[in-house]
Amino acid sequence: MLTKSINDAINAQINREFWSGYLYLSMANHFEAEGYNGIANWFRVQFKEEFAHAQIFINYVNNRGGRVLLAPIAGVPSEWESPLAAFGATLKHEETVTNCINDLYYLAEQEKDYATRQMLNWFVAEQVEEEDTVRTLIDNLKLIGEDGTGLYQFDKNLATRTYVAPAILNE
Ligand code: FEO
Repeated sequence: MLTKSINDAINAQINREFWSGYLYLSMANHFEAEGYNGIANWFRVQFKEEFAHAQIFINYVNNRGGRVLLAPIAGVPSEWESPLAAFGATLKHEETVTNCINDLYYLAEQEKDYATRQMLNWFVAEQVEEEDTVRTLIDNLKLIGEDGTGLYQFDKNLATRTYVAPAILNE
């Protein structure tokens, strides 16, 4: 059984994961409209990953006899000045999510909820990976600058990203 404070905190995180998905789907739509189909693909995969993150938390709450509360999802921006601006906003957002996961981890420790702490280990590692991936893309974009051929190749590379459901969803 989950304590009310842990259950509430996870419900808040579920909402954040869905909001993250909305944000990335909005970025995908923006870049699709701007003709960057590869970048759009990358953000569409990111959107699916975020909804998978929400599902992992939902499964966990249900498995522990808690209650999932799906709160309204707030609106998201719909335009970005450039690919660099969008990936910069992505990194900033993921750093905020990392802080939220850390807060949740701390709460689980305070409440001696070791099962929740164990489940959160997956998210701690996932955040390190997500931040690292986005930092690399930002570095690439900074190197490319205004070079059209570089940007074309960058977009082409991102078209190859495919969604793979996290194994934890099938456990
Ligand atoms: Fe759900 Fe992008 O972390």
